[in-house]
Amino acid sequence: MLNKKTLLSGITATGKLTLGNYIGAIKNMVKLQDEYNSFVFIADLHALTLPIDPKILEQNRHNIYAIYLACGLDPNKTTIFFQSDVMEHGLMNWLIINNTTIGELSRMTQFKDKSQKVKSANGMDTIPTGLLMYPTLMVADIMLYDADLVPVGIDQKQHVELTRNITQRINNKYKLDFKIPEPYIPNVGNKIMSLTDPTKKMSKSDTNEKSSIYLLDNPGEAYKKIIKCVTDSEGKIYASPDKPGITNLLNIYSALKEISLKDTETYFKNKNYKELKAEVAQTVKEFLQNIQTRYQQFLPLVDKLSKEGAIKAAKVAKANLLKLMKGMGLNNEK
Ligand code: TYM
Repeated sequence: MLNKKTLLSGITATGKLTLGNYIGAIKNMVKLQDEYNSFVFIADLHALTLPIDPKILEQNRHNIYAIYLACGLDPNKTTIFFQSDVMEHGLMNWLIINNTTIGELSRMTQFKDKSQKVKSANGMDTIPTGLLMYPTLMVADIMLYDADLVPVGIDQKQHVELTRNITQRINNKYKLDFKIPEPYIPNVGNKIMSLTDPTKKMSKSDTNEKSSIYLLDNPGEAYKKIIKCVTDSEGKIYASPDKPGITNLLNIYSALKEISLKDTETYFKNKNYKELKAEVAQTVKEFLQNIQTRYQQFLPLVDKLSKEGAIKAAKVAKANLLKLMKGMGLNNEK
């Protein structure tokens, strides 16, 4: 137990979780929890960067916790907690902010995309400060647990790279030995695409509900969304950057059935699009039915388990926060 490496990951509590969140991140958190000393949280402080109704935020927090459990995260193996329950995240963020520059934060792709959207939605030139600072909080999350491994989808890779740079900078500057974390990005399913526009990522903030499979979707409705998804007119089934819709269906099938993309392609090679869609839709439907039954069973446990998780997480977070504070000349506890 003591010499296990540490895993940390989280999901922002901004909306309903999608199949992309499961395949890109949660599935790997579950797969790795035996091997790693694991910390998984609900990034509710990150959810404040854009306006959010407090009631919705509270609902999202609760739902995500129960979804984690329903997907197979085991509280005996993974410390599962709400970010805002562990006060150290806020203070650590301040220490990190003072080791970054506005230049490196404004170069983040996600900042550029999101701030552009905010500007065009409001017709204003003001961007919420939280959008710019968001990656420093993510660096803080990772350093607080001194993580070795961070399972994420490809869209978060740049933030983990920033974390590596900043951690290295802090280690050099203050003569510390925080781990330089590695991202863990699945080969298949690191970017599940929108069902209505497969050139775009499936996203919980997409306003078109037909674009995403939500983990709490009615399974029958989810089936229909797959049947109606956008593909192409070639009629041949194989994975290729020119065939984003078909490739997306193959990736979803491969990830949920736990078979390689190559074997998935071989399996569907002589079938038609209708058959492909029906089989993927059925697989997704069964997956949702399975986790939703478990979700209902876990909901009543969230309050108790999240308190226990926060206590365990806070011990580790405090030790690492004090280590950095001491390095920076802010704490003289022996
Ligand atoms: P978030 O909430 O946007 O997404 C949560 C996780 O799901 C992955 N993901 C996807 N993977 C494949 N296909 C998709 N369509 C898809 N959509 C989302 C994301 O890559 C991510 O792994 N900043 C993070 C949350 C966070 C965090 C952290 C993660 C906060 N602190 C520390 C790791 C470590 C975020 O907003 O993810």
